[in-house]
Amino acid sequence: MYFIANWKMYGDIKSLNTLNRVIKFSKSKEINKGRLIYCPPYTLINSFLKKFKNCLIDIGAQNCHENETYGPHTGFINARMLKNIGANYVIIGHSENREKGESNRLINLKIKNAIKAKLKVIFCIGETLKEKRQKKTRQILSKQIKLGLDKIKNKSNIFIAYEPVWAIGTGMIPKTEDLLKTIKFIKSKFKSKSPKILYGGSVNPNNIKNLKKINIIDGFLVGGASQNSKKFIDIVKKTYS
Ligand code: 13P
Repeated sequence: MYFIANWKMYGDIKSLNTLNRVIKFSKSKEINKGRLIYCPPYTLINSFLKKFKNCLIDIGAQNCHENETYGPHTGFINARMLKNIGANYVIIGHSENREKGESNRLINLKIKNAIKAKLKVIFCIGETLKEKRQKKTRQILSKQIKLGLDKIKNKSNIFIAYEPVWAIGTGMIPKTEDLLKTIKFIKSKFKSKSPKILYGGSVNPNNIKNLKKINIIDGFLVGGASQNSKKFIDIVKKTYS
């Protein structure tokens, strides 16, 4: 199981101290088959890499520019640059970026170049509350998958993170039976082997007991709760208990 911490726009140098607990946990038996990946803000990637030098915790970024090569793009970083400093993962298509106008076409370009740069991609999809109410969830997810993964044959380095927009940061999660159906639906979109599927949206130590019942989920993308090491560790522990 994968446990991916998305720190969003939070964290400074002092936050590194909070990781000691996680480092210790990652070396204990309690980690079980859990794999931990941290996606801090760009400013902390290098510090996190140093901090995790002697343990198996991996590092990712939260976005990248769509261009494969260097270019005059003030304020941006491409996938190759991320790989170069030691990141192995990148989150692409997060709803917080889609909301600001990141299109499926742009997401597709970003994914293609991230794969070229040998990064593993955490490709986020999910419907808004309005779309859910209009019973458009499947239609939206199909479109996001079709356009986001257009002309990408080898999907072995892609993880799909199903993050219903209405579940992010709200404390709400989908009903178990709905989530099971949606994950099955996402898997059914792939003829041969489906990419690994993660769930994200208000995952915390209290609701993980319900979420883990869906045994076709390959892991969790955790926002808020991942900034608190104890909570993040509890999520992993409770997944296996
Ligand atoms: P929360 O866990 O804070 O709801 O955030 C989820 C998320 O957006 C992870 O990418």
